[in-house]
Amino acid sequence: MSAYFEAINLGKTYKTPSGDAVIVDGFELTMKKGEFVCVLGHSGCGKSTVLSMVAGLNEISTGSVILDGTEIEAASPDRGVVFQSPCLLPWMTTWDNVMLGVNQVYYHASKQERNQIVEYYLTVVGLADAMKKRPGELSAGMRQRVGLARAFALSPKMLLLDEPFGMLDKLTKFELQQVLLDLWNRERLTAMMITHDVDEAIYLADRVVMMTNGPAARVGEIVEIDFERPRDRRELMLDPRYIEYRKQLISFLEERVYLLDSPSNKTLAA
Ligand SMILES: Nc1ncnc2c1ncn2[C@@H]1O[C@H](COP(=O)(O)OP(=O)(O)OP(=O)(O)O)[C@@H](O)[C@H]1O
Ligand SMILES: [Mg+2]
Repeated sequence: MSAYFEAINLGKTYKTPSGDAVIVDGFELTMKKGEFVCVLGHSGCGKSTVLSMVAGLNEISTGSVILDGTEIEAASPDRGVVFQSPCLLPWMTTWDNVMLGVNQVYYHASKQERNQIVEYYLTVVGLADAMKKRPGELSAGMRQRVGLARAFALSPKMLLLDEPFGMLDKLTKFELQQVLLDLWNRERLTAMMITHDVDEAIYLADRVVMMTNGPAARVGEIVEIDFERPRDRRELMLDPRYIEYRKQLISFLEERVYLLDSPSNKTLAA
């Protein structure tokens, strides 16, 4: 199958008073349609930089990103973005916050069709009873449910998630991972998600892409997560492969810490 998403020699350099700061350099990744990739890497290595370039929210310095045969240029609703805290308009209801994007993307659809879309996604994420509430009346977990509903409701070509559950407590995080997987199982959107959580990456991803430490970060190693879908968290954890995957991911990250800590080896870390 040909690539649906391609990051080709992607790089980001910032001009700083002390010269050029090469944050990402030569980031290469190919994804199939409907694939779920998690990106793992140490804090500050450049994960969000890559994701924001793919989203069209941050200018690309070198290389290019191709999605469904077209080079991306600017932000567009064909890429749904979910951040750690969703930017919801506080004076609008949950319903209206989701409708905002739906109106934009489905302007040709009837009012009834648009209503159905909003109702469907808010129900699937478990907010059937909170449609008329405003963001201030919702918990952080509920707000992120709105964030997911909003992103999926636009039927984007690609879903980009930057640590969407990073601020949530463990139980809420588990619930939201389930919501995300349920949605994803229905629609099989091509998804790239940044996380710091090794277990989250194994649970969600088809492949885990590990980035090297910056500066000039790029793809270091890729681990295929070969669990069938739909996945059951408990079954997964009892599978001997789970421990193996965990070991691989953690040893990659630990190795990088070691290299970072050791000044003489700093260049090796990149
Ligand atoms: N405008 C800028 N000018 C210069 N350097 C920047 C700028 N924006 C970000 N950086 C640097 O780019 C590097 C990568 O940042 P980025 O936010 O992509 O990291 P990250 O991997 O997402 O980290 P975290 O896991 O903490 O979210 C950091 O070292 C940061 O200081
Ligand atoms: Mg980040």
